[in-house]
Order: sequence, then structure tokens, then C-alpha cells
Amino acid sequence: MFQLDVHLFEKSYSIYVDNSFRKIRELFEEYFGTDTYYIVITDNNVFNYYYDEFKKVLNGERIECFVFDAGEHSKSFETVEKIYDFLIKRSIDKKCVLIALGGGVVGDVTGFVAGTYMCGVRYVQVPTTLLAQVDSSIGGKTGIDGYTLKNIIGIFKQPEFVFINTSTLETLNDRHYRAGITEMLVHGLVGGVEAFDYLQNNMNKILLRDNDAMQEIIVRSCDIKVKLVENDEFENSVRSYLNLGHTIGHAIEGWTNYQILHGEAVSIGIYAIFKFACQKGFIKINDVKIVNDLLMKIGLPICLNTIEPIQIMKRMRYDKKVKNGKIYVIIPTKLGEVCIYPLNANDEDIILQILKSLKQAF
Ligand code: GLY
Repeated sequence: MFQLDVHLFEKSYSIYVDNSFRKIRELFEEYFGTDTYYIVITDNNVFNYYYDEFKKVLNGERIECFVFDAGEHSKSFETVEKIYDFLIKRSIDKKCVLIALGGGVVGDVTGFVAGTYMCGVRYVQVPTTLLAQVDSSIGGKTGIDGYTLKNIIGIFKQPEFVFINTSTLETLNDRHYRAGITEMLVHGLVGGVEAFDYLQNNMNKILLRDNDAMQEIIVRSCDIKVKLVENDEFENSVRSYLNLGHTIGHAIEGWTNYQILHGEAVSIGIYAIFKFACQKGFIKINDVKIVNDLLMKIGLPICLNTIEPIQIMKRMRYDKKVKNGKIYVIIPTKLGEVCIYPLNANDEDIILQILKSLKQAF
């Protein structure tokens, strides 16, 4: 089992990476003793695949489960209310531990409930999708969508620990798996030149879901995010590098009413922002080609015919990186390095033209 520590003073915690659930019982007993009440929060897909196994290994008699419908539409006020209701009806008190068993939606909703129920209870992340394993389970960003906007309501709430079982990737469908690789690509593109080379050199193993190799590759990817979170927990500076491709991506995701997956939307966002950075002279055309080839190899989209470029630009104004009316985006300066860049009116027009060209290219 690999272990990676997240240093956040009194909120520090560990990320454990293994290829099965075997060690979770030991870990839960070590952290919470033997008489803690656990509430597993999961979706119907993960419940069907893993709940029985998880419960058996945890040997939980004091364990209950709340299940909601899989999909982004469940990342809502309604789901959060239903969970509060579930907890209150059972008189669940502050000594309980919530367990997020599932992908990004499960982790974000559970973290949000853990941060708000009774002003905060403990929770553990057990991510089962690639996106959640390398990104959303780490760093304590939690929340829900609303008002047709992605992640518009949320809080920072760090987990007690994260347990990644890489074998759960075996049951992830191909589309979600590929979409999860987008966040690994983001880490490669912001984590330094070596990180990018490492990702490129290991892409075949990632695509083959080589379970042994994946443990190490996931640890490397998590490590990049961990360092950024340790330096900037509340995203005032370097943590925002992880938003490469996300300002355009979130706008596209919301515009399609989540018909397109997060990783697919971010893929289009990455390609668009690489084109922008090239036009502005920050990177070379060959860098755009390398990223394009990599996205193609992963099987991710770089354009979408249903987008309305003007609507996407409007939606970008609701991004969390808008300050005093200026949209701040993350742009590449080379493969592996990025910077924070404020868009002026002319830049916004360039991005609009790029989005129009991507729509036509479909
Ligand atoms: N998903 C980006 C972050 O957690 O900051």
C-alpha cells in the first residue's frame, strides 16, 4: 500500500493507495476505534458493485447506507436535503463518520453534508472513479451544482483520510475512464516538464488500466495536486492552476446540462486555451499539436457542435476566478507550466473566435 501525506497543519491527512479494500478495516479501527457509527453515502451503480464487499471488509454492524441516483443531476440541493433528512431521522450525532464511496458527485455531496451537518462531522473519501481518485477526493473542495451552474455552492472540508482502491477502476465504463484521464493530463500540464513527460510516457499503461502500474501513476498524479493544495488550500494562488481548461470546461458542461462529462468538457477547454495561448505567443504551435495528439490518443473531444460560443462566454463570467468583472484563466507557458492570466476585452474576443472555430470544426 502506498501512502501520501497532505500537510495542512491540524487538518493534515493521508491518502492510501492500494489494489483492494483488504486494509480498510484496520485503517478504520485505527482512526475511529471499534464503536463508531458509519454512514456510507453512495450512488446506485457503486452500491451494486461494491457496497456488500465494502461492508463485509469493514465488518460494520454499526453501518448504514444512503443511496442516490448516479449522475451529475444528483449533485443538488435536493440530494443534500434527503441526506440531512436521513441523518436526522436516525438521530445521527457528531460522533458519526460519513463515508463517500463513489465518484466525484458522491465525494462532493458527502463532503458538503459532512461540512454542514451539525456544523461539521468527520468523513472519509473512498473514491472509485479515476476522476475522483486523482482529483476530487483530495483537497477538500466540496459542493453542489445549482441555478444551472457547476459547483456554484460549496465549502472546503478536508476528509479524515482518503482510501483509493485502484481495482475499482476495472468496473468503470470506458467513457468515464477516459474522461477521468483529463484530470491526470491537467496534473501533467501544470506539474512541471518532468511531470508532463512522465504522463506522456505512461499513457499506454493508463489506457490499458494496468492495475499495478496505475497505483504508482495515481500516486504521482495525486502528489502534484497535494503540493498545490498544501501551498494554497483555499485557492488564492497556485491551486487555481488545477483549473486549466476548467473555466471554458465548466461553462460547456453547464450549457449542455451535463450531457457532456466533466472531463470531456475540460478537454475541449484545454484545447481552446492552448490555441489561445499560442495565438498570444505564450507557446508554440507544436505544443498545441502535442496536446491535440494526446487528447486524440486518450479519445477525448476537442470540439462540440452544440455549443453556443456567446452563451459559453456569458457563462464563463460565473466562474469562481472572476474578480472585479475580469475573467482570470490558467494558460500554458510551456508543456508542464502555466500561469494565471486576466482576459481583456480583446482576449475575450479571441476566445470567442476560437470557440466558433471549434464549433465549425465538428
Ligand atoms: N479540482 C480542483 C481543485 O480541487 O482545486
